[in-house]
Amino acid sequence: MTTISSQEASSLDREIFRRRTFAIISHPDAGKTTLTEKLLLYGGAIHLAGSIKARKAARYATSDWMEIERQRGISVTSSALAFDFEDHTLNILDTPGHKDFSEDTFRTLEAVDSVVMLLDGAKGIEPQTLKLFEVARMRSLPILTFINKVDREGVDPFNLLSDIERTLDIAALPFDWPIGSGSGFRGVWDLRKQEAHLYESVDHGGEKASERILQADSPEIGGILDSLPDRSAFQDEIALLSHEGTSFDTKGFLAGRVTPVFFGSALNNFGIEIFLRTFLEMAPPPRAYQSDKGPVPPDSPHFSGFVFKIQANMDPQHRDRFAFIRVCSGRFLREMSVTNASTGKTLRLSKTIQFLGQKRERVEEAWPGDIIGLHDPGVFRIGDTLCEKGVFHFEGIPSFSPELFARVILEDPLKRKHLKKGLDQLSEEGAIQVFQLDPQGERDLIVGAVGALQLEVLKFRLEHEYNVKARLDPVGYDRARWLTGNTEQIQALSGTLDTLLVYDHETKPVALFRNEWALRYVVEKYPAIGFHGTSPRAFHEGRG
Ligand code: G4P
Repeated sequence: MTTISSQEASSLDREIFRRRTFAIISHPDAGKTTLTEKLLLYGGAIHLAGSIKARKAARYATSDWMEIERQRGISVTSSALAFDFEDHTLNILDTPGHKDFSEDTFRTLEAVDSVVMLLDGAKGIEPQTLKLFEVARMRSLPILTFINKVDREGVDPFNLLSDIERTLDIAALPFDWPIGSGSGFRGVWDLRKQEAHLYESVDHGGEKASERILQADSPEIGGILDSLPDRSAFQDEIALLSHEGTSFDTKGFLAGRVTPVFFGSALNNFGIEIFLRTFLEMAPPPRAYQSDKGPVPPDSPHFSGFVFKIQANMDPQHRDRFAFIRVCSGRFLREMSVTNASTGKTLRLSKTIQFLGQKRERVEEAWPGDIIGLHDPGVFRIGDTLCEKGVFHFEGIPSFSPELFARVILEDPLKRKHLKKGLDQLSEEGAIQVFQLDPQGERDLIVGAVGALQLEVLKFRLEHEYNVKARLDPVGYDRARWLTGNTEQIQALSGTLDTLLVYDHETKPVALFRNEWALRYVVEKYPAIGFHGTSPRAFHEGRG
């Protein structure tokens, strides 16, 4: 055990203060890949944008299975990216979208300190953004909003602000305002500093856009404003919004009740730098995490962290898994010995990886807010706490309600043991959840997933890794609620139409519903039952 010197303590503080760990939440096609790439470009981690997109494009030109494999591959390599911008280190965590939208996408938000909500300016709030927003809100994460694609026609900034406020019930306060839109989009007006940021597009945004900043009283401003379709309307808007902006509620922002809004075009690099700089100023550094022994602040001198994602390699020849850890406190050093609080076992952490820009590297040292990948010979589970000193458990990561459910039908009923082993291991990775019709697990098993790809992957892996051929028959339920409260009433649910009573892996009762209507009916009829969209958040108990 090492004791930390005062010099090391001050470097710990400095490293914590420098870090920003966040995720971008958006609906597919809003421009998350493009924005991520542009952030890397501005951070100097890449020199010419276009490479991440090229990889992404390649993944669509494949057969079904290859697509799954590639998507999993891509998810591994982009689980978390670290890069520096001036004095800061940023960690961007990927929230997989498209077909690989899964519980991982939700769980990623357990490991970040803030969120960037990215919207397509022509579309506003879309379903996947809404789902992720709800998870961010549950965690009270601070949210900054970037409205993308302002270079497209038909973007109405005021409508977008009211869409955010109405749909998400969060106050939306613009920090900058588009100067022109569509093909006439020139730049953004910084509402705090009262200056115009004007850009020239550069060859499809492969390099930083050249930017000119003009103060409000600059003689050139007149010409810029005259080029707008309605100069006086723009000036009225600026006057109105500048007034509103004087009372920004920082506390409300940190608690996720107010979101600052920025406009731009990720493709053309318009509005990126002003957004990035304000993000660094506003987004909080690594926070304290709750444990069963009280809050663990990031500057506590000993390393601790938790597993928020487990990624298995799809290649059956190499069954290696990686566990992704969020560092919560202290300094991580490769080769250090830690206790896995869930098993009580001591582990030496030597096989470590981190993704820096586009490079995959061995991690020698990491600080609170950083994400490290650990080679996992099957010893980790989602939610495990690793401690350098003492033994404590961080709050458990809840399970989120799946949206697709299927009954598992074995082709060979004698393979039930294999099936259970396979399902246990695959649910530990967190891609699927397993429910049983009876607490003892003797009757049929039902699997649930958030995305369709997970069920395809499940079937494939059962067959290829566990030698179990199974059919997955869809059952027509689309949401689950964990139940608490009156046991008699909970039992009575089993006779209700359009509702199925099942048990999760900890034999906690869960009800599956066919639709929103069925859920509402039951909620009204059984007031003594508590209905929860996620499994109760608990401290992980030890496992042998
Ligand atoms: P995603 O990761 O959120 O799914 O979105 P992605 O970045 O892949 O962007 C989706 C599409 O939107 C891409 O077009 C991308 O070029 C475009 N896009 C991103 N930002 C902007 C923007 O600020 N303005 C405009 N006009 N378009 C933007 P694509 O045609 O699907 O791909 P590509 O041919 O451009 O590569």
